[in-house]
Amino acid sequence: MTEKELQAILDGMTTEDKILQLTQMPYVYFKKDGGEITGPVKEMGFSEADISRLGTILNARNQSAVTDLLENYQLKNGAKIPMAIMADVTHGFKTAFPIWLGLACSFDEQLAENCSKMAATEASVAGVSMTCSTMVDLVRDPRWGRVMESFGEDPYLGEVMGAANIRGFQGNFGRYNVAACAKHYVGYGACEAGRDYNTVDMSEYTLRNVYLPPFKACIEAGAQILMPAFNIMFGVPMTMNNKLMVDILREEWGFNGVTVSDYNAFPEAITHGLAQNEKEVAYKAFDAEVDIEMATATYVKYLKELLQEGKISMAQLDKSVMRQLKLKNKLGLFENPRYSYSEEEKQKLFLCEEHRALALTAAEESAVLLKNDGVLPLDINTESIAFIGPHANEKNILGAWVTECSPDDVTPVLDCVKDVYKGRVSYAKGCSWDIDDCDESGIKEAVEIASKVKTVVLTLGEAPNDSSEGCSKLNLDLPEIQYKLLDEILKVNKNVVVLLFTGRPLTIKRVHDKVRAILNMWWPGTEGGRATANLLFGKKSPCGKLSMTFPITVAQCPVYYNHFNTGRPRSDDSKRVPFCSGYIDGPNKPLYPFGYGLSYVKFEYSNFSLSANKFTAGESIKASVLVKNAGNIEAKEVVQLYIRDEFGSIVRPVKELKGFKKILLNPGEEQEVCFEIDEKMLSFYGADLKYGAEKGTFIAFVGSNSDTDYSIKFELI
Ligand code: BGC
Repeated sequence: MTEKELQAILDGMTTEDKILQLTQMPYVYFKKDGGEITGPVKEMGFSEADISRLGTILNARNQSAVTDLLENYQLKNGAKIPMAIMADVTHGFKTAFPIWLGLACSFDEQLAENCSKMAATEASVAGVSMTCSTMVDLVRDPRWGRVMESFGEDPYLGEVMGAANIRGFQGNFGRYNVAACAKHYVGYGACEAGRDYNTVDMSEYTLRNVYLPPFKACIEAGAQILMPAFNIMFGVPMTMNNKLMVDILREEWGFNGVTVSDYNAFPEAITHGLAQNEKEVAYKAFDAEVDIEMATATYVKYLKELLQEGKISMAQLDKSVMRQLKLKNKLGLFENPRYSYSEEEKQKLFLCEEHRALALTAAEESAVLLKNDGVLPLDINTESIAFIGPHANEKNILGAWVTECSPDDVTPVLDCVKDVYKGRVSYAKGCSWDIDDCDESGIKEAVEIASKVKTVVLTLGEAPNDSSEGCSKLNLDLPEIQYKLLDEILKVNKNVVVLLFTGRPLTIKRVHDKVRAILNMWWPGTEGGRATANLLFGKKSPCGKLSMTFPITVAQCPVYYNHFNTGRPRSDDSKRVPFCSGYIDGPNKPLYPFGYGLSYVKFEYSNFSLSANKFTAGESIKASVLVKNAGNIEAKEVVQLYIRDEFGSIVRPVKELKGFKKILLNPGEEQEVCFEIDEKMLSFYGADLKYGAEKGTFIAFVGSNSDTDYSIKFELI
């Protein structure tokens, strides 16, 4: 459709039509009872005809919902503008990939793009045309439950993975693509004390240098939608935050796409204490150019009145509506409103071989080997292994936000192991994964089978929905019952390998100290069982690197690698040092740092060098390092480049990730890995809040995790 045709559509719309285009209702809000609409939309005063004119519907993801929308609303009422279905398509639609926090550990941008591309394919044939993903909230505190949806703690990794996801979802806006949404803009992951929806307060330096970059990268990658977060920033809820929503997003970054509020975020501004009533809410959100109101109806109730009072203008309303019409046009919805995919096509695509193969690769590349004294990989000739633990024989290893993915499509770890390993396998659940479960009755059987085998593989971790929205935690330990199970098993068998299933970093020092190996599978998705078996028995070497620090204790939180130095950094983490920035009763350092992850082989780094140790703005230098696979199987390594800006107009972090390369090396193979260091890599928002690099000395570090001290100095002159 041409711009002119879109304009003609807009010109033909009544004010009510326009306002309804800017209103989004969850499908579950219009229940039908004996043909009559009931539920929240009825309470909001919507008629059936009003519903047909809604711009977008949230989470109508299955066939009956889509048919209902088409037949009982759109067609029946002769609506001219197609309703778009916007849905939460997170780490997969039918085929579940690992949670994004896990996927980020792959440090593989192409993989991230492929996963969201396939999620989009499955979602689009189900009728979905817009997704509420990708979440690029940076998180430094694992108490926050939504950390599982994020790419972790690093701005650069967030930029790379977020942009890749956006590209994958959107492609070229073809038949199998969906419009993607960068959310939750901004700072949601910085909620105080990790408590969901809690206050966010930070300096503009931190906002611009740490929290905004992944959003900017998504916008630059072409994200069509943006969702403001529930939290406040500089004292104003994001849904009505003009500085962020207009000055930065629209004016500074030039974002022309659609903004959609979060669920119920409009009236929550009253609870925040920013607006006194719904009319003020509608005015303030509209003024902040929030195009679509999700799940509430203050626009429906008050925009017309605000127009009549001259508080807002028809031109502003048209601008918002046009943004949405353009998006629908870009998605081809006027020609094909996506209600017309055949059942046959769905069956062909949902969980097809290609998607499952990708899910397997993604799960394998996301897993992080946290400890290994050499016991892994397990020998397939080991005569007997006991699989114990609440996740070992479970189909639900998908984690939260699974939308249409189902545990029914998963083969549990135990069954997958039987395909790889031919020896004797025994199994006991031992205990449950519930956080407050104290039932010890399964432990006896578990100990009994543990005493009869060579090796015990024990699954520990969370319950699938314990890391999700509204799931903040005070305690990052495993459920007590799981420690009890471990301790009892250790009394009869010291050969214990732990498989961790979790949606967030947990405090597992007590486990680390006692067992021989820990392989963190996160929530690995539909093919998680097979991936686990392949890694355990060495069909593949683990290569994931932590996208987020694992603290020793929750009391260290927030703990992250790219912190500032302070005036009194701790010189020795192993002992009490007076009057320095540290704890008297424990270390500053976490259990496992950002970027950390072991392999079944050793990688040797040597010959780190720079092409020059000085350069000027506009030039660049080359950093190179030799990396050798000193093991006897092929394996992948993520070579990481960090930079420290020694002195700045504002203090700079001790280290920042600036580049990474994932390489595959055969046994004994050595490869030169190069990075180009340029002015952009050294740029940041300084004392004047202007972006740019400052002259001076820098340190480049290279290595296999953020703790590396393999470094060289250079200077920007
Ligand atoms: C979440 C969003 C989500 C929306 C729609 C909200 O509660 O914060 O991330 O997209 O619900 O389901």
